[in-house]
Amino acid sequence: MIAIGSDHAAASLRHIVKEYLEDQEIPYIDCGTDESPSDYPVIAKEVCKKIQSGEADTGILLCGTGIGMCMTANKMKGIRAAVCSETYSAKFTRLHNDANVLCMGERVVGSGLAKEILDAFLFTEFEGGRHQRRVDMIMELEK
Ligand code: RB5
Repeated sequence: MIAIGSDHAAASLRHIVKEYLEDQEIPYIDCGTDESPSDYPVIAKEVCKKIQSGEADTGILLCGTGIGMCMTANKMKGIRAAVCSETYSAKFTRLHNDANVLCMGERVVGSGLAKEILDAFLFTEFEGGRHQRRVDMIMELEK
């Protein structure tokens, strides 16, 4: 299950991504928002809470740049969020970092590229092995 959220700066992209997920029959929980203005930390927290509770295993967070969402998400336990503006990073943050939240900026990427980034993120498995040890080292810092 995917939890998705955006602030006002990325509401259009959120609706495009939702439609894209529906086309692929990928289930999601929409954490909003269509309110404007809105505060990205509120939405980031909602999406990450869905992952923490086990209702979702992956998050998609969208704002103007993706950065505010990413900063907020990475403050929350168990969350490994990455901002991606191209497909290489999206693929490797899954392969090497086991990222569970993808952040993108509507003011940075077009909708076509956003869909390609999303595919790279969703359809790449974590490699494990030596990368697991490094991810464990990141997660140790939460203690
Ligand atoms: C909102 O104007 C903007 O600051 C927000 O969407 C995001 O880009 C923050 O990182």
